[in-house]
Amino acid sequence: MSVWWVLLALSCLSFSAGLQKTNRYEGYKIYEISGKARSLSFSETLNELVKNASYYEVFSGFNGGNPAQIMVHPHEQVNFVQLMDDNNVDYDIINRNVGLTLSRQFETNQMLRQWFPYNGRLGTERYYSHEEINQFIEDLAVKYPRRVFLKTVGRSYENRWLKTITITNGDARRNKNVILVDGGFHAREWISPAAAIYLINQLVENLEDNADLLQDFDWVILPVVNPDGYEYTQLSADTRMWRKTRQPSSSNCIGTDPNRNFDFHWNEEGASDDPCDDTFAGAKAFSEPEALVVGDLIHSYADRGQMYLTLHSYGSLILYPWGWTAAVPDTEEDLKEVAEAGKSAILEATGTNYTVGPSTTTINYAASGASDDYAFNAGFPISFTMELPFGGTGFDPPASEIDRIVKETWVGIAAMARRVIQKYPLA
Ligand SMILES: *[C@@H]1O[C@H](CO)[C@@H](O)[C@H](O)[C@H]1NC(C)=O
Ligand SMILES: *[C@@H]1O[C@H](CO)[C@@H](O)[C@H](O)[C@H]1NC(C)=O
Ligand SMILES: [Zn+2]
Repeated sequence: MSVWWVLLALSCLSFSAGLQKTNRYEGYKIYEISGKARSLSFSETLNELVKNASYYEVFSGFNGGNPAQIMVHPHEQVNFVQLMDDNNVDYDIINRNVGLTLSRQFETNQMLRQWFPYNGRLGTERYYSHEEINQFIEDLAVKYPRRVFLKTVGRSYENRWLKTITITNGDARRNKNVILVDGGFHAREWISPAAAIYLINQLVENLEDNADLLQDFDWVILPVVNPDGYEYTQLSADTRMWRKTRQPSSSNCIGTDPNRNFDFHWNEEGASDDPCDDTFAGAKAFSEPEALVVGDLIHSYADRGQMYLTLHSYGSLILYPWGWTAAVPDTEEDLKEVAEAGKSAILEATGTNYTVGPSTTTINYAASGASDDYAFNAGFPISFTMELPFGGTGFDPPASEIDRIVKETWVGIAAMARRVIQKYPLA
């Protein structure tokens, strides 16, 4: 713990010395609006307002009785507060200066890199680069040649290698069932690759406790789907909130939402055809090499795949199909049963209260062209988007919270995997 005190002292020092420079989020505030406040007319007004993307960003909408969190541009805050007052809506300000929080985090992350250089293992002390993560899984494959296998499955737009790690128990039995996990679809959701790393560590280094998870199942993990975006968010506080890929579109805007780019109900509800929007579906389905790689992975494991799990943040949600429509699959009970196993395990372990439900109605918006629907449609009987908990200003839990969140996440994933193994035994 002493390390944290030193870091805190150092960062205070650098700020009082005026070393921080302002960034594009200077003066932005995040408002939290109580779930109780959502009258229909206010919700409609709010929905119209937040379409103005230069001034508003909805970090988290109303879902499962949870409050909504909205980031607002400094020039719009007076209007926004006035609107809430006129509608008798209760709100809290959960961050008074997003720019300051982000620049402090940036400084801290820089220092942590110095303090904890890569040494062959990845702990929970800090966030890692895509290169470090690839190096780590390569090192694991060298250390455990009979249990761990790497495969280069593609390249990102900026030519970063996308590699999966396959983890087995080393008995060399072929054609086991498969659990497919990915992280890092959305650039700013750093806690997602961190959770994937922890999962990899557990399955590889802690075989004793997890032997049952590898008896009849192999695990295939792609820790960072969107490395270009992930690296871009690490450059500065200005770029920290980037969500999309980095491939330019025909307009002046860059990037596509890789989780709207899948060729299943592509570019329908909940996806945008404006290249400047954060949910831009892409010029065509699978325009993004990163999404195509995941689509190919899904197909290559569809016959053996029993669970597809994609890790995002935030919201403390386990969401199952469909995301493109408010309708639910015939097998909803199976999906719910597995998700509830994860929710209960987490609630018991830490008290974090995940919400379980079908994607569209739980988060109150459709998200067509997403990977979970795609995997479910391709034959994975269980397919989830797991939204990890809130941290920092929302998408950015500080490094000091990684340990707690990834351990809790692992408890949930292991519980869901155990239920899957029970429900879908190896034929
Ligand atoms: C967005 O909000 C700003 C500030 O209130 C306003 O000046 C601008 O006209 C709005 N743009 C649109 C497209 O509504
Ligand atoms: C978890 O959240 C749900 C929905 O908000 C609520 O009904 C339930 O009582 C909560 N459970 C616990 C143990 O806090
Ligand atoms: Zn996401």
